[in-house]
Amino acid sequence: MIVLVGGEKGGVGKTTLAVNLAAMRARAGHDVLLVDADKQASANLWASIRDQEKVDPPVRCVQKRGKGLAADVRDLATRYEDVVIDAGGQDSVELRAAMTIAALAIFPIQPSLFDAATLETLAELVAQAQALNTGLVAGIMPQGPKYPTCIGRCMAMPSLRDRVKGQRELPSASTAGADAFIEAANEVQSDATERPWQAFEKKAVPRTTFNLRLNDYELALLRWLAEQRDESMQKVAKRVLIPALERLVEDTLG
Ligand SMILES: Nc1ncnc2c1ncn2[C@@H]1O[C@H](COP(=O)(O)OP(=O)(O)OP(=O)(O)O)[C@@H](O)[C@H]1O
Ligand SMILES: [Mg+2]
Repeated sequence: MIVLVGGEKGGVGKTTLAVNLAAMRARAGHDVLLVDADKQASANLWASIRDQEKVDPPVRCVQKRGKGLAADVRDLATRYEDVVIDAGGQDSVELRAAMTIAALAIFPIQPSLFDAATLETLAELVAQAQALNTGLVAGIMPQGPKYPTCIGRCMAMPSLRDRVKGQRELPSASTAGADAFIEAANEVQSDATERPWQAFEKKAVPRTTFNLRLNDYELALLRWLAEQRDESMQKVAKRVLIPALERLVEDTLG
């Protein structure tokens, strides 16, 4: 299951929620991947500290930004039971791309007027995303007020609840907003067609022969390496070639 933690506000507890969700799922025995899609990379920092401290169970974290996030995460999701995405605190290509593939989107919100002001945009984003990702379930998670006496925060609470209840009935999306989603969705499709190798198992048994014409220099180099390493020339060439090709793909796709 792909769970997205995002929103339009900074500092409301998104990363704290995302990393704790990931840790709880790992502790429940799930194979879980944390995806840090925020340029601050706080979730990644948390995961590396957890790794250094050898906290059990370990939580694997990858950083994914920009173009290709949806396609990459959808591919990764086939290898993990749960994927938790920390998408950062602004309307971004990462947030929108993640909303096209997530089963659940959680938006932590503090009960403040400033946070409440982002709800309309969030509800609009959700409505637009649901047009493309019909299974998407989205909701806010009210966070504890830091200053509970503030009258603005108390007034904001009922409004948050009403907005969540009425989320699906909100006015139709703006054209610009809808276009951004269509762009994000198209990105997923084009990535899927641009990366045909993702349809195959990386470790599958080789079954196709590919001829490579080498000059004497190249052949001598390969033969010497194979002899030194006590491996076949094919094995040596493949070990170097495939990672180099993968890097070239990343460079080519930008
Ligand atoms: N449920 C909570 N109760 C109390 N404090 C919290 C809670 N969640 C987060 N915090 C604290 O609030 C601060 C901001 O949390 P966090 O970094 O998770 O927010 P964020 O939304 O990811 O921020 P950013 O927008 O910068 O990515 C941190 O100091 C964190 O310890
Ligand atoms: Mg954060």
